[in-house]
Amino acid sequence: MTQDEILREMGLGPVWKLRATAAAVPAAEPLAPAAPEPQLESQLEPTPAVAAAQAGLSWEELAAAVVACRACRLCEARKQAVLGVGDRHADWLFVGEGPGAEEDQRGEPFVGQAGKLLDNMLAAIGLKRGEDVYIANAVKCRPPENRTPTSEETATCRPYLERQIELIQPKLIVALGRPAAQTLLQSEVKIGAARGRLHDYRGIPLIVTYHPAYLLRTLQDKAKAWEDLCFMRRTMKTLKGN
Ligand code: URA
Repeated sequence: MTQDEILREMGLGPVWKLRATAAAVPAAEPLAPAAPEPQLESQLEPTPAVAAAQAGLSWEELAAAVVACRACRLCEARKQAVLGVGDRHADWLFVGEGPGAEEDQRGEPFVGQAGKLLDNMLAAIGLKRGEDVYIANAVKCRPPENRTPTSEETATCRPYLERQIELIQPKLIVALGRPAAQTLLQSEVKIGAARGRLHDYRGIPLIVTYHPAYLLRTLQDKAKAWEDLCFMRRTMKTLKGN
């Protein structure tokens, strides 16, 4: 697929193409860390049982722990827990919110409509699911009716994501949407204010952008998402020293 075709498929053709120049990339300081933000009370402490359970686990042990997890009520309605997908030594880690109906059915993150857009966003910057890319979610079980997970649910599930990050050791983390950003940054986040600059997750650079499902509904923010993709690509180049 050519880049033109990718952009057209995303419904962004001319808009994304026109802005895909260095001059259109946000004026934010590329590698300037963002100021720390206030912490969310409800996200300060991971659930002790889950935290203890995930410490030091191998991938196989972690996968088994997630499948068996009953630490919050999301386990009650799930078909299956969805750990994540991709290269377990990826430089890129994308973190979404939580599985939807199709993900719950198939056991893989971002396989529905939002996932198609995510795949096209990846392709637009030369990336492909599974190749130097890992995709995970803030919560591993589907919230009923696709509601946003509560901060208690994300806090309970967070140790699993933390262990995934320890195992992957990505060079760059991309938080897709507010729940992912808040879970990782442990602070109140507004995407509009947080995007375009580098944040820090335990020493790993982190970029915040819009969730693909939001972009499907909000055409006017797709140009900003393209800017964020350019920022990610530039940042990774800097991180890799080329
Ligand atoms: N939305 C998400 O945040 N994650 C998925 O896996 C699917 C949709």
